[in-house]
Amino acid sequence: MCGITGYIGDNESASILSAGLKNLEYRGYDSAGIALIGDDVTVHKQEGTIDGLTIPSNADATHGIGHTRWSTHGEPTDENAHPHTDCSGDVAVVHNGIISNYHELKEELSGHIFESETDTEVIPHLIEEAIADGADLRAAVMRALDCLEGSFAIAATHVDHKGIVAARQDSPLVIGHGDEGMYLGSDVTAFVEYTRQVSFLEDGDVAHLYDDEIEIFNDGERVTREVQTVDWDASAAGKAGHDHYMHKEIHEQPTALRQAISGRVDELAGNASLNINLDDEFLHTIDEIHIVACGTSYHAGLYAKELIEPLVDISVRVDLASEYEVYDGHDAQNTLVVAVTQSGETADTLSAIRRAKAPGMTTFAVTNTVGSTITREVDDSLFIKAGPEIGVAATKTFVSQVTALALFATYLGRLRGTISAGEGADILENVRQLPSAVQTILDEEPQIQRLADQYSDSEAFFFIGRGLAQPVALESALKLKEISYAHAEGFAAGELKHGPLALVTENTPVLAFLNQSASPEETRNNVKEVESRGAPVIGLSTDGADESFCRHTIDIPELGRLEPLVANVALQLFAYHVANEMGRPIDKPRNLAKSVTVE
Ligand code: F6R
Repeated sequence: MCGITGYIGDNESASILSAGLKNLEYRGYDSAGIALIGDDVTVHKQEGTIDGLTIPSNADATHGIGHTRWSTHGEPTDENAHPHTDCSGDVAVVHNGIISNYHELKEELSGHIFESETDTEVIPHLIEEAIADGADLRAAVMRALDCLEGSFAIAATHVDHKGIVAARQDSPLVIGHGDEGMYLGSDVTAFVEYTRQVSFLEDGDVAHLYDDEIEIFNDGERVTREVQTVDWDASAAGKAGHDHYMHKEIHEQPTALRQAISGRVDELAGNASLNINLDDEFLHTIDEIHIVACGTSYHAGLYAKELIEPLVDISVRVDLASEYEVYDGHDAQNTLVVAVTQSGETADTLSAIRRAKAPGMTTFAVTNTVGSTITREVDDSLFIKAGPEIGVAATKTFVSQVTALALFATYLGRLRGTISAGEGADILENVRQLPSAVQTILDEEPQIQRLADQYSDSEAFFFIGRGLAQPVALESALKLKEISYAHAEGFAAGELKHGPLALVTENTPVLAFLNQSASPEETRNNVKEVESRGAPVIGLSTDGADESFCRHTIDIPELGRLEPLVANVALQLFAYHVANEMGRPIDKPRNLAKSVTVE
């Protein structure tokens, strides 16, 4: 995720902003930069590491803003790095999040000179126009904000106007109150060595930091935000107060999902707006989709098959990338091959794509990483916009992959006329509700932790589900085994009686998906089979329907085809707490790497 830092006060800002960038490194980034505001605006920015960024000292510049960028619009390049400026170079802006209507705004700003491919760059130009009309910086930012759609946190400066103006909408921003100045950060980490007195901005807030003053406005009214003391030390702050990156990333899912969805849901048209460059005619005529992926991304591919086949009425084959073969005689011209890979660097997946390209198949990547190898090799890409994932176990990228693929399924269904606008709108309504449904599960963490603690020394764990829940059963077992080293397996619920039932004892908890969308009646029969063998059952069920039926239940909000995806979040937390109780090195499990670049 991108990071913002800012400072205004008694000291030279360059060194404080450099320290801020360093502190934000843990969020992951591909480029970084700062703008120092003194007699003029000097911008230092470039692709690559912060260590490579030379920031000369500038005693005049006692305020400035900085940014670490994780690409979502445009490749990681010097030009696309923040801060961005207006035509005169007097306005400087840093931004986290996504401006979903930037195409339209760019067209409206047709007389302006744009130097990057980013969505952000429209903001300094909008501010420039307002200032040319006589507005001061604060009023100019407010006018620009009125034009923006999407989720964002921004900080803006102007050489002739005092202070920094910051604003937040669905993307966090914190103000630090120090003895020698005021600080700005996308989280407290940015300035934790200078002050622990902080105010968290709320959605819709516009804060003006100048002289020794902070004025905050929301919806035109002056507001105050409580000053709180945080008790983190600098090292804990890298994980934003969480004990592990995995835990932090599990909790980032509502934000990651908002980013994945922002600007992509057109409920009125019952369609997803995905800016896909693949030819409509081609997508109309294909008669097969092949999905290739590894590990967790493979499970996202299996979920996608369950979404795409009924909505698009097309056959979807899902292959482990390392096993993917295309046989002579296959109709290469009418097949779309989709690689699902968060890193975009997995060797097995790259190799499968190369095998698909050989006979001339069209290739498409669903990935988190702009500029990754896969994006350079495929015909087109869809970005999941989850932000960087540092914990080895994939969590937020799985949920964002499935969400992006649900949007893709809707897009294909509407394009091919296999679903109506009304059916499309129903699916998109579920997509829209996903972030808050995931939040509901995160709020249930204490209950999930109690269950994890109670069963952490079990002999083995089994996960069962049907339909859309089957890939989630496989994914939940993978998550638990990779971080806890416990024996865990996922099964299609109906398969239990064909063999695995022999493994079930009173010391093997069974976690069963009983969601409405996952044929709960049949799965209830499977629950009876395991309960009668003494196994404790934890049922994931909608609206507490199975409370009297299972030994324990975790409530999952009703969410149509996306219900099992929400249930998956409960089991991410379950896996995390089992592994934590066992004292495992959760972020770096033994023998595993985040990105597997060998075949
Ligand atoms: C498990 C996990 C791995 C990856 C797999 C593919 O938590 O992270 O199974 O999903 O190595 O990686 P990507 O998606 O980068 O291709």
